[in-house]
This record gives sequence, C-alpha cells and structure tokens, in this order.
Amino acid sequence: MLLDNHGRKINYLRLAVTDRCNLRCFYCMPEDGLNWLSRKELMTYEEMLQVCTLLVKMGIEKIRITGGEPFVRKDIMQLLTALLKLDGLKELSITTNGVLTAPHVADLKKIGVRSVNLSLDTLDANRFFTITRRDEFANVMETMEELLKHDIEVKINTVVMAGKNTQDIIPLVGLTKDLPVSVRFIEEMPFNGDGHSHSGIVWDYVRIFDEIRQTFPEIQKVPDPQYSTSYNYQVPGHKGSIGIIAAYSRTFCGTCNRIRITPQGTLKNCLYDDGVLNIKDLMRSGMDNAELETTLREAFNNRQKDGWQAEQKRLENPNFHESMATIGG
Ligand code: GTP
Ligand code: 5AD
Ligand code: SF4
Repeated sequence: MLLDNHGRKINYLRLAVTDRCNLRCFYCMPEDGLNWLSRKELMTYEEMLQVCTLLVKMGIEKIRITGGEPFVRKDIMQLLTALLKLDGLKELSITTNGVLTAPHVADLKKIGVRSVNLSLDTLDANRFFTITRRDEFANVMETMEELLKHDIEVKINTVVMAGKNTQDIIPLVGLTKDLPVSVRFIEEMPFNGDGHSHSGIVWDYVRIFDEIRQTFPEIQKVPDPQYSTSYNYQVPGHKGSIGIIAAYSRTFCGTCNRIRITPQGTLKNCLYDDGVLNIKDLMRSGMDNAELETTLREAFNNRQKDGWQAEQKRLENPNFHESMATIGG
C-alpha cells in the first residue's frame, strides 16, 4: 500500500495523454486553442507504460486516462491495451469528450474497460455549439449510445455555467429516468487557459441541488462510494443517478487518494500544485527504475496537506493561464 506523509492512501493515477483537443469548451481553453506541446515534449507510450508499471507495483490500483481529449492521440488503443495487462491494476477508466470515441467502444469493451466518463454540458445541439465552438453533438450522443449498448458504465460530466446551460440541468436529470447513467453536475473551476476571466462561482452545489429539488422533490441521497468526487442522489424509480461535484467550493484534500501526470510527464501531487518533478526528463536522463521509485517515494512523502492555500496563491499570480486540458482535470 502506498501512503503519503499525511497517512493518505495513494491508489489513483490520473494520466493525461495529450493537451490537444478537438473541442474548444470556453471554460477550458480559448478559441485558438493552446500553445500545443511538440511531440518531443510529450511522454511517449513506452515512457507512460514504464512509469505506470512502476506505480502499479508501488500501489496504484486505478488509472484514469484523460487529456485534452485522449482519442486525438494516435494509437491510443495500444496504450490502453498494454495498461490493462498490468498485474495489480484493478481499474482503467477514461474521461473523453466523445467526439471520436464511438468507433472504439466495441474494442474498449473487448480489452476490459468497464467505465467511461463522458463530458457533455447540454442536450441541445445549438447550445453544444455555443459552449464547445464545434458542431459535434451528434457524435457525442452516438458515443453514449454505443457505451450503453456495450454495457460500459457511463458517467456524464456536466460543468454548470451561469447563463450558458443551467436550463439543461432538469433535462439532464430527466435522462436518468430511462438510462442507467450517472449525470454529474460540476462547479466551474478557474482553469480556462485564459487567465482571470473566471466569473466566480454562481452555481455552487447548493444551488444546483435546489434547482433539481424544485422539479424532483422526491430526490434521495444515495451512498457515496469511497473517494467519490461527487455527492450522489437518485430520483426514486429512475434507472440512473445524479451526482454533484463541488469542485470549486469544496476540496477533497482530507481524503485525497490521487496523483496526476501531465502530458509532458510532470508529476502533480495535487490538482493545485505546479508539479513536483518531471518523470519524463528523469527517464530520458537515464534514471533507472530503482532510482525512479526512490524519487517518487520522496515526492509522495512531501505532499501538502491542503491544496487550497496554494491555489489561492496561484490565482493571485497574473501569469496564471492554466487550462484543464494541460492538467487533465
Ligand atoms: P471517477 O473515477 O468516476 O470518480 O471520476 P473522477 O470524478 O475522479 O474524474 P473525472 O475525470 O470524471 O472528473 C470529474 C470532475 O472532477 C472534473 O471536473 C475534475 O476536474 C474534477 N476533479 C477530479 N479530481 C479532483 C480533485 O482532486 N479536486 C477537485 N477540486 N476536482 C477534481
Ligand atoms: N471547471 C470544471 N470542470 C472542468 N472540466 C474542464 N474544464 C473545467 C472547468 N474549468 C471538466 C470536463 C471534463 C473533466 C475532466 O473536467 O467537463 O469532463
Ligand atoms: Fe476539450 Fe475537455 Fe477542454 Fe472541452 S473540457 S476543450 S472537451 S479538454
């Protein structure tokens, strides 16, 4: 078992495989995209596999593949297939925007992926275009259908944004009536790649819950799985469930079980730190696995207890331009 210096179990790795994306969600990145990393700045699949093998041996049980959009990286299925063969890995999940995913679903099922989180902020094609600046709604819906058809667990991630998609909250809850999906409403975080234009949090989890309860007063709390990012609910009789992720107004620091690796190989001990070391650079400088393991353990023995304070400092920095796509959420 891998423990940090505060006695917290570390068993979950979020691995961002690319910063690139085929959508331009305005809460995540500017219309022109980001300064994309060059190929040699990216970790190769071999490097990812090497560090994942080591981390699984050290105690990581769950890996979530994120981006950017994982399916824009070439041959991503090869990496997924190799990771699923790791002894000791209990779960490999993916967070995807669903634009390119549908054709891969049958293979995902075949190699053993059991759960996929799908980013979808609206059920209206026009609003989808306004939010993502791309006309891809139909492809995302097709991905959802394919996932359900193949019995892969689906969680829908919906970022709730004042003036943009709050009218979608109730229809999205409605989706859980006949579909066995978990719709999770997320507070907007200030990671839009654009500096300080975040409007502050207007729709926090209390307001989101109140909105749902007005239409569905019978909504009930259901147990939250261990380490769940969401508070979970269900409308009695509905096949699916509802979650609210208080990503901005609350922190999960007390029970934080996760580490992150960015597309360029930076290890983040916390969503809010700037990275504690660069794994890719260490590997390329010739560090072997034993030394890398020692270095990683040292990093895990220096985890901060509460990331929120660091976050406040970062937000005060005028050069703060981080995008969710470069940190993988
Ligand atoms: P599950 O493994 O299905 O529970 O997924 P997850 O919620 O860990 O991951 P997902 O990629 O679906 O992320 C959902 C939302 O939670 C995104 O907006 C993430 O940025 C946010 N999130 C994930 N981890 C953290 C965290 O440690 N802190 C905060 N504040 N938000 C997080
Ligand atoms: N605030 C909250 N969630 C965000 N995501 C991307 N950018 C933000 C943001 N600024 C979500 C996406 C995706 C998940 C990994 O992160 O919707 O589902
Ligand atoms: Fe792409 Fe996800 Fe960012 Fe949207 S939120 S631009 S889908 S990485």
